Amino acid sequence: MYKISDELAANGIKRIEGFPVEGFVRGEGPNNPALMLVGEAPGENEVETGIPFTGRAGKELMASLASIGLSREDVYITSAVRSRPYKWGQKKQRNGEVVERKYNRAPTKKEIIAHAPILDTEIRDIHPPIIVTLGNVGLQRLVGPQAKVTQLHGVLMETPVLMWNEEAQAFEASENNYHIFPTFHPASVFYNPPVRALKEGDWRRLGDLLHSKK
Ligand code: URA
Repeated sequence: MYKISDELAANGIKRIEGFPVEGFVRGEGPNNPALMLVGEAPGENEVETGIPFTGRAGKELMASLASIGLSREDVYITSAVRSRPYKWGQKKQRNGEVVERKYNRAPTKKEIIAHAPILDTEIRDIHPPIIVTLGNVGLQRLVGPQAKVTQLHGVLMETPVLMWNEEAQAFEASENNYHIFPTFHPASVFYNPPVRALKEGDWRRLGDLLHSKK
């Protein structure tokens, strides 16, 4: 199993202090995974279990992996941000009472920068054969804000990835190239059911790519 150092984790926790986030969930997977999966940020479930993709989106993701003969143990799962970004909102209960609760939200650029050294280290250390970005947050973190999953999904790219330069306070292209395979975030099918067919097509293509490489 690959594990980021306690020092890097502590630094990540410190860098994100003061932002409306909670918990810290480490990436998880073997040293030589078949794929690296890059999501957005943990949600409520993941912060509770301490394991990435253990909620509803996780179930959907595990089904996609199974469809190409892989399981959680075969892949390294991480995300742009390792704490749960939340916002307060109101929820009306069945008895009509309104209660305040935390809702998931997308991470901000500052939060992504706070945890950029973690993802950069994981990518450098593991150097996965293919990085699968799940949704726009992971894709844009690695290839820039112009990239859109709706345009790029299902096609393997060979490209440098963006890594955070603390001195320059900027993202810069890596020296090495990586293989990036963008697809939709597994939760997107809950909000946008027509995406399911596109997502399943992407996973079929990814399975073909992996198996033709063997
Ligand atoms: N979305 C992510 O990006 N990661 C998780 O662990 C759960 C949902």
